[in-house]
Amino acid sequence: MLVTSKELLLDAQKHGYAVGAFNTNDLEITHAIVRAAEAKKAPILVQISSGAMKYAGVEFLPMIVAKAARLASVPVAIHLDHGPDFATVMKALRAGFTSIMRDASKLPYEDNVAEVRKVVEACHALDVPVEAEIGRLGGAEEHVVVSEREASMSDPEECVRFVEDAGFDFLAVAIGNAHGFYKGEPKLDFDRLAAIRDKVSVPLVLHGASGIPDHQITKAVELGICKINIDTEIRNAFIRTIQKFVAENPDQIDPRKVFGPGIEAMQTVVEHKIEIFKSAGRA
Ligand code: 13P
Repeated sequence: MLVTSKELLLDAQKHGYAVGAFNTNDLEITHAIVRAAEAKKAPILVQISSGAMKYAGVEFLPMIVAKAARLASVPVAIHLDHGPDFATVMKALRAGFTSIMRDASKLPYEDNVAEVRKVVEACHALDVPVEAEIGRLGGAEEHVVVSEREASMSDPEECVRFVEDAGFDFLAVAIGNAHGFYKGEPKLDFDRLAAIRDKVSVPLVLHGASGIPDHQITKAVELGICKINIDTEIRNAFIRTIQKFVAENPDQIDPRKVFGPGIEAMQTVVEHKIEIFKSAGRA
């Protein structure tokens, strides 16, 4: 069933688990994500970025995801990932998204607040919740010195101010997490996460969770992360499986036969994440 993310994340916050937010670009990934959620009886967010919308067509991909959500036996929210501007947010709302992220985290603080406030006003008029981010992701590179790494992370005091000033519903934090696979073991700043959690009442979001070891994810959930974003590991499972299949079956030209094992591999990844996030059986 199609729902907004607010009810999902507030329940996760209340009961100490995280809802998986999985990125899709097409029909195959969408099937894998929703099948995994149904198999695990878990609520989920299916995320679409502006890049995914451009790739698959702004009309097509949200329609596919909305249909899958409506038919699903578990609650599914359709989320705009890293909304780059107001126009994209408007397109997403018109296409039926039930959850929006406006990412203006690269802008100076006052501009981030102004951009998010504008989106909050529009989205809340339609009862659609909004995620915003403060701090910069990507501080996990090994060559970055500690002081620079810390300067790019979310500051707990600023997080409090940001929530009050901009009035959004979920806060994405930068605590040493980065998009894509990590070079070496990721070092999440759990003290910082605990400090943010102690001061901020809205549900917290962890981006860039591909490649973060299970025990660190478990700790992040224990410390109050309620939404966890996964993209790279899904893509990796799909492409690596297809590469192997094509190498072993060079004469196979039926896309359904080639993609089938890829869809199963993605479903396996999503099911595992749902277990680690402790959202299995929460639907
Ligand atoms: P990964 O690609 O590292 O899983 O990050 C996904 C993400 O945070 C999307 O917003």
